[in-house]
Amino acid sequence: MANDREKPIGIFDSGFGGLTVARAVVDQLPGEDIIYLGDTGHAPYGPRPIAQVRQFALARLDELAALGVKALVVACNSASAAVLADARERYDLPLVEVIRPAARRAVRATRTGRVGVICTQATATSRAYDDAVEAVTGISLTTAVCPRLVDFVEAGVTSGDELLAQARDYLAPIRAADVDTLVLGCTHYPLLTGVIAYLLGDEVTLVSSAEECAKQVYATLLGADLLNPGPLGRRRFLTTGDPSRFARIGQRLVGGFLTTAEAA
Ligand code: DGL
Repeated sequence: MANDREKPIGIFDSGFGGLTVARAVVDQLPGEDIIYLGDTGHAPYGPRPIAQVRQFALARLDELAALGVKALVVACNSASAAVLADARERYDLPLVEVIRPAARRAVRATRTGRVGVICTQATATSRAYDDAVEAVTGISLTTAVCPRLVDFVEAGVTSGDELLAQARDYLAPIRAADVDTLVLGCTHYPLLTGVIAYLLGDEVTLVSSAEECAKQVYATLLGADLLNPGPLGRRRFLTTGDPSRFARIGQRLVGGFLTTAEAA
C-alpha cells in the first residue's frame, strides 16, 4: 500500500481545460505526483457524437492506467458524461469525475432553486446535469450550450472584445432565467471566470466543476488510504497534439505550474 501511495494521479481532459482540475488538485495536495494527459489532437470533444467522445476518452484513460497511476481523474465534463459507467467497470482504480461533485455543490449553494449550467453540446445532450440536479425536489435547471468558449481557451484567449460579446450572447438565457447559481460545466470555463463573473455580477454564485472535482479527489484518496503527504510532487504533462504548442498555451493559461510537455 505504501508504494501505491507514491504512484501518480492520472488526470485527463480533451485539451487544456483539465489543467484547472490539475492545478486545484496540486493546490490541495501538493505532495502528489500527477500525470496530465490532454487529448489536444482530438479537441474539442464537445461537438462530437457521444460515441466518439467515449471512444477517445477510454483510449486516453487506458493509456494513463498503463502508466501505473493510483487513481484516474476524468477532468472533462463531456468525457465524464460519455464514459462514467463504463470506466468504473473497466478499471480497478479509484475514479473521480467532474459532474456529480459540481451538481452536489450547486444544489447546496442555491437559495432560490434556480440553477444554471453552461457546458458543451455533448454534456447537454447526455443530460447528465439534469439527472444529477433535478433529482433534488424544488430545483430547476437552465442549460446553455457555449461551444465557442472552448475554442477561445484552446487558442489561449481569455479576454478581449470578441470573447466578451460571445459570452454575453451565450449567457443571455442564463440571465433571463434569473438563476442564483451557475455551474461552469466544462473544465475549460474556470479559465474564463473573469468574463463570466463580470457579465453575471456578484448575485450569481459560480460553481467550478474543477474545484469541486479536486475536493472529491482528496476525499477519494483519503477513503482508499492512497494520500501521499509529500514532500513536493512531480508533474508530467502529456499531449496527443504538439508538445511545444501545449507547453506554450498551457503556460499562458496556468502559469509556471506547467513548463514542459511531452508527446503522449
Ligand atoms: N473540458 C471539456 C469539458 O469539461 C471539454 C471541452 C471540449 O473538448 O469540447 O467538457
